[in-house]
Amino acid sequence: MCGIVGYIGTVSAKGLLVEGLKRLEYRGYDSAGIAVMGDKGIDIERAVGRVANLEGKLEGRKGFGGSLGIAHTRWATHGAVTETNCHPHTDNAGKICLVHNGIIENYAAIRTWLGKRGHTFNSETDTEALACLVAELYDGDLEAAGNAALKEVTGAYAIAVISTEEPDVLVCARKGGPLMVGVGSGEYVVASDPSAIVAHTNRAFALDDYNVVRLTRDSIRTSTIHNKDVTPKVMMLEAQLEEIELGGFDHYMQKEIFEQPRALRTTLRGRIDRDEGRIVLGGLLNNAKELVRARKLIMTGQGTALHAGMIGEYLFEDFAKIPTEVEYASEFRYRNPIVEEGTVVCAISQSGETADTLAALDEAKDKGALALGIVNSVGSTISRSTDAGVYLRVGPEIGVASTKAFTGQVAVLTMMSLFLGRRRLMSVEKCKQMIGELEGVPDKIELVLQQADQIKAVTEKHIEKENWLFMGRGVNYPTALEGALKLKEISYIHAEGMPAAEMKHGPIALITDGLPAVFIANQGAQYTKVLANIAEVRARGGHVIAVATEGDAEIKDHADDILWVPEIAEPLSPLLTVVPLQLMAYYAALLRGHDVDKPRNLAKSVTVE
Ligand code: AGP
Repeated sequence: MCGIVGYIGTVSAKGLLVEGLKRLEYRGYDSAGIAVMGDKGIDIERAVGRVANLEGKLEGRKGFGGSLGIAHTRWATHGAVTETNCHPHTDNAGKICLVHNGIIENYAAIRTWLGKRGHTFNSETDTEALACLVAELYDGDLEAAGNAALKEVTGAYAIAVISTEEPDVLVCARKGGPLMVGVGSGEYVVASDPSAIVAHTNRAFALDDYNVVRLTRDSIRTSTIHNKDVTPKVMMLEAQLEEIELGGFDHYMQKEIFEQPRALRTTLRGRIDRDEGRIVLGGLLNNAKELVRARKLIMTGQGTALHAGMIGEYLFEDFAKIPTEVEYASEFRYRNPIVEEGTVVCAISQSGETADTLAALDEAKDKGALALGIVNSVGSTISRSTDAGVYLRVGPEIGVASTKAFTGQVAVLTMMSLFLGRRRLMSVEKCKQMIGELEGVPDKIELVLQQADQIKAVTEKHIEKENWLFMGRGVNYPTALEGALKLKEISYIHAEGMPAAEMKHGPIALITDGLPAVFIANQGAQYTKVLANIAEVRARGGHVIAVATEGDAEIKDHADDILWVPEIAEPLSPLLTVVPLQLMAYYAALLRGHDVDKPRNLAKSVTVE
């Protein structure tokens, strides 16, 4: 979604705000804008396209020397991608200037009400209506005017607002959209996520829903929109600057694919007791008894996170023998689900800010479920809304296409299923064996990554093809879905994932001469069935690309191209079989000349419904 940056301090705000926008650009990149408090009013510049376009326009502009400002990078919700619709937005008199992430659902009624009071509107946005509402309600106190306006809106918001009437005050507020406050010495940096803060301070706190913060250069007040004081919980940001730099790679997605071995070593570190054959998850210990006695687990999330949850279903039922279901969060939240006693709901989310997943979590809690979070972003809304949870610890994921977060989620789900299995019916020997397999995953991913050139070559052979199929069985059926999602979201090639057996029930009609059909055909319980499905595709002219186990001689008679992965226990195989699919998607996007890290229409975190 959109990215917000704000600064109040003692140095020039312009450069800091533009740099912050660049770090947030992965959140949304249709257009960008900046506002800096000047001596004679607010200096504002906006540009369609990337932040670099805004930077170019600023080069020619006078002003922008002030040390208080706000900025915004947009993922359009209301109104086309035009300069008029760019944030920041002001009221007609230019007295109030505001940036906003979220959706004001009742903005049309607000516009009508304001129109009757003489306000006019230049843009199609809900945000401009909010700026005018703050101006209408302003009575000498910007924070009070903001509170009064926010009490009138329904929907989600994270806002930063400044006013010419109070040129040394920055007010921010949130409900449903993430906003963090970085606490520096004599300065504050507010932003949608830590990546725009860590360059200035690693002390920060996240605003909770209905929180408001009023900042001056030497004061801070955190309260609710009902003017009740709130004590912020300042934490140390784990993300380090080098983690959000490209570090010699061409793209964040490339970096994040190749850093999976290191990231997963961090995910596993300190959580495995090899000698005892136990998994140690501190975040679950307080609820271990309730978890061990769970009668049902529900995995929920969206996109890649949901695919990880689908793998979790196989793992929990195999290792922990607990009935497990998987639900799209967006469906779960609205279907009035039956949540019986002993149900545990697991919200899976890299960003920890996905609106549908957060709402599904709230629905589950309302119905009495124990709420767990499997989240990457420390201090994110979902992580603060759960009863317990496990952080991925894979480091910030900047590329819009999720890669290391997926393998991190699967690794955490594997550990959780062993954590519970060991406390239930799983033997110590089986647990020790799986732990050994899990510990070997990072090195085995390294081996897969060494084949990057071959994977690129196979991808290049089919780069003109507009339709691909991805098929797998068992625990690799969700891996096939993930491979299809990766390809379509960054190369814009249409791709469909499915259980291999399902192909015969319709999709086989899609098989035409040369159609790329990717099969996850590693050694597993249904290997011969996969070979049969491969034969059905080849008999109709499909071109079969098989992800297969090193040393498998038989597959050579069945596949046109083979991408090898090391041998591994089948339940853990998605951690390896997904890597060639990630790389194929990366190279397909590259070869098609697309922006790998900022694919069209997408954003890294979907904080609106
Ligand atoms: C994955 O590549 C996509 N970017 C998207 O499906 C993503 O997984 C989904 O939006 C969920 O995001 P979350 O993990 O931050 O909740």
